[in-house]
Amino acid sequence: GEPTRYAEPQGHGGETHQSTDDASRTLTTQQGVPVADDQNSLRAGERGPTLLEDFILREKIFHFDHERIPERVVHARGYGAHGVFELTDSLADYTRADVLSQVGQQTEVFVRFSTVAGNKGSMDLARDVRGFAVKFYTKQGNWDIVGNNIPVFFIQDPIKFPDLVHAVKQEPDRAFPQAQSAHDNYWDFASLSPEAWHMVMWQMSDRTIPRSFRTMEGFGVHSFRLVNAEGKSTFVKFHWKPRQGLQSVLWNEAVKINGADPDFHRRDLWTAIEGGDFPQWDLGVQLFDQETADRLPFDHLDSTKLIPEEEVPVRIVGTLTLNRNVDNFFAATEQVAFCTQNVVPGIDFSDDPLLHGRNFSYLDTQLKRLGGPNFTHIPVNAPRCPVMNFQQDGHMAMHNPKGRANYEPNSWGADGGPRENPTIGYRSFPAEVQGTKQRIRAETFADHYSQARQFFVSQLPIEQKHIGDALVFELSKVERVDIRARAVSHLRLIDEGLAATVADGLGLDLPEPAQAAKPTLDLPP
Ligand code: HEM
Repeated sequence: GEPTRYAEPQGHGGETHQSTDDASRTLTTQQGVPVADDQNSLRAGERGPTLLEDFILREKIFHFDHERIPERVVHARGYGAHGVFELTDSLADYTRADVLSQVGQQTEVFVRFSTVAGNKGSMDLARDVRGFAVKFYTKQGNWDIVGNNIPVFFIQDPIKFPDLVHAVKQEPDRAFPQAQSAHDNYWDFASLSPEAWHMVMWQMSDRTIPRSFRTMEGFGVHSFRLVNAEGKSTFVKFHWKPRQGLQSVLWNEAVKINGADPDFHRRDLWTAIEGGDFPQWDLGVQLFDQETADRLPFDHLDSTKLIPEEEVPVRIVGTLTLNRNVDNFFAATEQVAFCTQNVVPGIDFSDDPLLHGRNFSYLDTQLKRLGGPNFTHIPVNAPRCPVMNFQQDGHMAMHNPKGRANYEPNSWGADGGPRENPTIGYRSFPAEVQGTKQRIRAETFADHYSQARQFFVSQLPIEQKHIGDALVFELSKVERVDIRARAVSHLRLIDEGLAATVADGLGLDLPEPAQAAKPTLDLPP
């Protein structure tokens, strides 16, 4: 009889139609079924309805419909690269961490830079804090320093974080501005939050309009602990110092760049790495003991304070080099999951309350953002050392425990799976804790203005002018005059000259100073 006839693929303008006889290049569905026609859906008759039967169409549309994952709740806009960390000075006296012990050892890293407030598609040169997150794939597991380009933070207690972020992001009724701190809600919150004003001074400085990701410093912010083989603990703060120098743009340059090329920072990083001009940062540590902490005029557990380098010098211990661009932005940069609780043996937490809130928050949000508990199976998040445990199943599980038993203790001997190891395993530093359970802010956290002033007076005159200009510009976008005045009332406790300049720039009468919770200190610049 008649041979079966199959319709040839028919696109309009057949000359653009691309087909192959090469089996190895044949387009397939996600199930691996070869596709003959990727231009036309299956329909009844030439002009008839499209058929539900068309599994090729439905699969393609279904997959497309689910391409987006939730953007990060903060730091949504970011750019990442691969690199290597080389230790140049051993901290073996202070820590069991292998990555910080063996001089010359190279450890793979992944780094993601970001803005904080803007959405995923917002522009790179917004006046904003920048994230500087580093994942070290060490022999003892993954260690993350999830830092910013500013050494202090806006708030002291994580219970304020949702409020801070709501206030700083787009206003809830109108959904703008998308990426600027120049709006009523942000300044309303900040002017009602004395603890924010040290960071506000940094935010209004040139630090928040960096010329390049390559010309930013990075800071782990919180105090962490290093713990050595004898169990001795030393407090540590982490610093990244760019070998390219610290550089910013001017505000009017930032505005022009945003218009001309909103991808300016990611393009700059990609181009430098692609051209072999690998950016480098030195890793520095401030090491200090409890006695030093006790004699500082502020609390090192308070994330709104820094430890001046004059008090505790920064010791350079290694170099980070970014040397490879991602070849799949989504797989790596979008799906990377940093977390402050990713520490390795020899690195531990301080009692900074903000750090404890973060230790919960990142893992929690990633469970949702990355669709389940198995995001460590995604290559960018997977440790480069062996992973063996009895955690199993769940969405997207790529591997499960192998062997006879998936629980312990068990008596299956060599087939019984991994065992705990008290010698090399992680041990929490046995810090003593005591106290009354209560909701309270320590008295030692109460001085909100001394370091804000210290930062301002340590700036060059031109940098001080930029801070004044930025405050006038940002506050001039605030519609409610009482909020503007409340902001200036804090400046009066930081620097009277600055307060007068900003009030004048805004056409305001100088308001009464804010009420300080604690007398401010006369710190050296
Ligand atoms: C994301 C830094 C405070 C919650 C990030 C990122 C950085 C960062 C760099 C982006 C990570 C990436 O590139 O994927 C900081 C610093 C803080 C701070 C330096 C203060 C010292 C907080 C606090 C919380 C928080 C107090 C919550 C209590 C989050 C969340 C994300 C995030 C939920 C999104 C993570 C994700 O979706 O993967 N933060 N942050 N952060 N941060 Fe923070």
